[in-house]
Amino acid sequence: MHPTLLCLPLLASLLLLCHPARAECEPATCGNLTVRYPFWVGGPDLNRSSSAISCGHPAFEVWCTGGVASLRGSQILVLSIDYNSSSFVAAHKRVADGGDGVCRTDFNISSSLALSPFTISSSNLAICFLYSCNGTEPPEIDGLVNATIPSCSKPIYAYLGGSYDRDKPPAIQAGNCTYSYLPVLWPDSPANLTAGANYSPQFKKGFVLEWQKNGFGDCDACNATGGQCRYINDSAAAFACLCSDGKLRRSTCPGQEDVRSSCLKLRVC
Ligand SMILES: *[C@@H]1O[C@H](CO)[C@@H](O)[C@H](O)[C@H]1NC(C)=O
Ligand SMILES: *[C@@H]1O[C@H](CO)[C@@H](O)[C@H](O)[C@H]1NC(C)=O
Ligand SMILES: *[C@@H]1O[C@H](CO)[C@@H](O)[C@H](O)[C@H]1NC(C)=O
Ligand SMILES: *[C@@H]1O[C@H](CO)[C@@H](O)[C@H](O)[C@H]1NC(C)=O
Ligand SMILES: *[C@@H]1O[C@H](CO)[C@@H](O)[C@H](O)[C@H]1NC(C)=O
Ligand SMILES: *[C@@H]1O[C@H](CO)[C@@H](O)[C@H](O)[C@H]1NC(C)=O
Ligand SMILES: *[C@@H]1O[C@H](CO)[C@@H](O)[C@H](O)[C@H]1NC(C)=O
Ligand SMILES: *[C@@H]1O[C@H](CO)[C@@H](O)[C@H](O)[C@H]1NC(C)=O
Ligand SMILES: *[C@@H]1O[C@H](CO)[C@@H](O)[C@H](O)[C@H]1NC(C)=O
Ligand SMILES: *[C@@H]1O[C@H](CO)[C@@H](O)[C@H](O)[C@H]1NC(C)=O
Repeated sequence: MHPTLLCLPLLASLLLLCHPARAECEPATCGNLTVRYPFWVGGPDLNRSSSAISCGHPAFEVWCTGGVASLRGSQILVLSIDYNSSSFVAAHKRVADGGDGVCRTDFNISSSLALSPFTISSSNLAICFLYSCNGTEPPEIDGLVNATIPSCSKPIYAYLGGSYDRDKPPAIQAGNCTYSYLPVLWPDSPANLTAGANYSPQFKKGFVLEWQKNGFGDCDACNATGGQCRYINDSAAAFACLCSDGKLRRSTCPGQEDVRSSCLKLRVC
């Protein structure tokens, strides 16, 4: 396709020429975290109506509160990001907060992540919990331990399933208990759990989520040609490269010669 066909309508170009460098799209830090494309720092006060041109895909919007990053202010915290492998370590506030998260594992974490473009890495282990056993004993399962700690209001039992698969629960014999399973980063070999241990600190370490690198454009290539990475939040929802001539292109910026010729035609601001 011819490059000019890929440029946005003139109105958007005009807006960009007047506001070429939106400060919130620059790489930023939040606590120890470096936030850059496809992640970007937004917040509750962001003016979302001003333009369809966003710093990034909505799902990668990070809110930074007191040095703690969360996905759009949700319960999902972002602990670290590995841009090379397109993955990040996340934790769920419900179980990561405080020292007794194991008492609050009775929920379905998949629903918190269901609408996002992220996948839960199969490098996580599934830790399974049985609770509310209706006054009966939990079933006898290899490796099942009593994980109740004094602050829990009801008994809770745990064992390690295999690799976490969001869509395929570990084979669970729950007996008269209800169950949940959460992804956790686990040190190398899956050892057995220890009865009476407090597994709450494990939830502070979080679990690994991945994103599809190709799905969000090649920011490095855009940057290498002097462009800034953006995302057009319209019905086509796609990556765009904001070039020094104020125009948006789908991949990279043209060389100097091309810039000069298009500037002559379109520079208005
Ligand atoms: C930031 O990193 C330092 C050193 O690695 C660590 O001690 C500190 O807890 C980290 N802070 C946060 C908010 O993660
Ligand atoms: C992106 O578009 C959707 C739907 O139009 C809107 O709800 C959302 O707030 C937009 N996000 C940003 C960051 O502008
Ligand atoms: C948001 O941006 C629009 C368009 O630029 C402007 O009309 C509106 O006043 C802004 N709203 C706030 C709360 O800044
Ligand atoms: C990511 O890749 C770059 C270039 O290949 C390399 O310099 C850097 O050390 C890598 N970072 C990590 C965290 O692996
Ligand atoms: C957890 O939530 C997901 C998404 O809403 C759903 O598909 C799944 O069946 C739920 N799992 C359980 C064990 O309730
Ligand atoms: C874990 O427990 C199971 C069942 O009790 C046992 O067969 C297995 O050897 C144990 N593994 C380790 C690493 O202790
Ligand atoms: C598990 O531990 C809790 C707290 O110590 C206790 O109340 C409960 O009876 C134990 N369950 C079993 C089956 O031993
Ligand atoms: C479930 O509870 C019923 C009634 O208390 C009991 O008869 C049954 O054996 C229990 N099942 C298991 C698997 O513990
Ligand atoms: C627990 O007992 C209640 C009342 O007897 C019953 O409705 C419920 O299905 C039982 N739950 C499980 C998981 O067996
Ligand atoms: C582009 O890359 C350079 C060098 O890595 C970096 O300093 C700059 O912040 C990047 N710009 C954007 C918009 O990401």
